[in-house]
Parts: sequence; structure tokens; C-alpha cells
Amino acid sequence: MRCGCDLVHVSRISGLLNRRPEAIGRVFSDREVADACRGGVEPTSIVAHQRLAARWAAKEATVKALDRPDLGPRDIEVRTRGSGAPELWIEGAATDLAVSMSHDGDLALAFVVAADQLATHHVQEEAAHAAR
Ligand SMILES: CC(C)(COP(=O)(O)OP(=O)(O)OC[C@H]1O[C@@H](n2cnc3c(N)ncnc32)[C@H](O)[C@@H]1OP(=O)(O)O)[C@@H](O)C(=O)NCCC(=O)NCCS
Repeated sequence: MRCGCDLVHVSRISGLLNRRPEAIGRVFSDREVADACRGGVEPTSIVAHQRLAARWAAKEATVKALDRPDLGPRDIEVRTRGSGAPELWIEGAATDLAVSMSHDGDLALAFVVAADQLATHHVQEEAAHAAR
């Protein structure tokens, strides 16, 4: 089993999106932006930025959990279920990764847990690398 976590200052995301609004498309999918605006939330509001910051944290936490620095922000997508619970997709495919996010004030965080076959795959990769 492997895990990853990440903590993000919401003001960092707000600052980026206010300075360079076009950056949103380089980091987040249309679906992630729509999820952040669910319930009638304005895209430029603090709530939308808190939700986007949590999704940013989830992407970083995924890279840590999988030890996959090759993955870019648009390779990893947080999708929100009808219940509000998040799930992780990578390169357009659903994953077994467990993800949890929270945000309060200027802080947003995410944890990602990778179990079983992903962890096994990682151990095998490490062993193959060590044997080279
Ligand atoms: C789901 C719930 C626990 C979220 O807690 P919260 O303090 O309001 O919100 P947080 O900022 O910590 O977390 C928000 C994130 O929780 C996640 N979340 C929301 N609903 C979820 C669910 N059903 N399952 C798992 N995660 C969920 C989402 O990722 C959300 O982020 P998003 O809005 O950016 O998509 C809360 O809304 C709820 O349903 N509470 C009812 C239970 C209760 O009353 N508990 C009190 C004491 S135990």
C-alpha cells in the first residue's frame, strides 16, 4: 500500500487564476471546473477556488502515492460523484485509488491511497531498477 498527501494555500490558486485566467485550462478539465461550481457557485468565488485548490492537492497527492512525476495535472482528473464524494481518473480511465479532500479558509488538502496491484507494481519496478 502507498499513500500521498498534499496541502495547498487557496490564495496561491486564486492568485494564479486572477493573474492568468487561461491557466485554468492547463491544470483543470472542464468537468473539474463544473464540479467546483456545482450548486450554483460562481467560478471566481472563494468556494470555487477552495474546491479547485483541493483538486490541485489531489493531483499532487496522486503523483506522490504512485511515484509518477511523469503525470501532468491534466493526466489526473478528480470527478465528483452525485453524493459529493470524489474519485480519481488517470489518462481517461477510472482508478482504484482512494482519495479524500477537505478545505477550510485558505487551506485545502487531499490524501490518496494506492492499494494492492498498484503497490505491487511499484515494488516490482523498484526491484527491476535495482537489478539493472
Ligand atoms: C461530506 C461532509 C462530511 C463534508 O464535510 P465538510 O466539513 O462540509 O467539508 P470539507 O471541506 O471538509 O470537505 C469537502 C470535501 O468533502 C468531499 N465530500 C463531499 N461529500 C462527500 C461524500 N459523500 N463522501 C466523501 N467525500 C465527500 C468532497 O471532496 C468535498 O470537496 P469539494 O466540495 O471540493 O468537492 C459533510 O458535508 C456531511 O455530509 N456531513 C454530514 C455528517 C455530519 O453531520 N457529521 C458531523 C459530525 S461526524
